[in-house]
Amino acid sequence: MQNDHRDFDHGKLDGIYGEKPFDLFHKWYREAFETGQMEPNAFVLSTVDECNRPSSRILYLKAMADDNYVFFTNYNSHKGTDLAQNPNASMLFFWPGKERQIRIEGAVEKIDDAESDAYFESRPRGSQIGAWASNQSDILIERDDLENRVIEFADKFKEHVPRPPHWGGYMLKPRLIEFWQGRPSRLHDRIVYELENDSWKIFRKNP
Ligand SMILES: Cc1cc2nc3c(=O)[nH]c(=O)nc-3n(C[C@H](O)[C@H](O)[C@H](O)COP(=O)(O)O)c2cc1C
Repeated sequence: MQNDHRDFDHGKLDGIYGEKPFDLFHKWYREAFETGQMEPNAFVLSTVDECNRPSSRILYLKAMADDNYVFFTNYNSHKGTDLAQNPNASMLFFWPGKERQIRIEGAVEKIDDAESDAYFESRPRGSQIGAWASNQSDILIERDDLENRVIEFADKFKEHVPRPPHWGGYMLKPRLIEFWQGRPSRLHDRIVYELENDSWKIFRKNP
């Protein structure tokens, strides 16, 4: 266990990692990779449907652009349908070996088609064909149906595989980021950055 709570051994929060939460996010994200945490870029994405029923699933963070958090998926999936009618979402990272959790809340938008194209181009052919073959979140009567669709699209796109129009990226623009650091005796640190009138407020919360 690599409990590392030195980040917050300061009484005063202002100026530890700048006025915005992003430097601290980058630091913890980098340290998750450097210390060999399992699936360091995996996070839980939670969305709500039109009846305000929440649902969660794991995704991979693929980029951070202009302080927005970018992930890729099927726009017609369960999460895609949720996000189309309510763009509010939360992202949760958990690195158990560091006793660290980061909660991010905000609203998502689709990224530009050109950026989704560029990322899709970089994917292995099998993943590209899979994006066409899988009607993500729809009921699949038989596994063979999926495998037949893989054969069908591999045959259709013998060389270049274009990006399916229903597949691409979202970016979440954060309005709140909370850093949780485990410490002994359950006196954990919770440091919250919240956007208020275009400026980030920073405060602690009781654990
Ligand atoms: C480690 C891990 C990484 C995943 N990464 C992605 C991803 O980047 N994009 C994606 O669409 N699904 C990803 N999935 C699958 C999702 O968890 C989920 O099953 C899928 O997106 C369908 O979710 P939905 O029906 O709620 O829309 C990942 C699953 C795991 C376990």
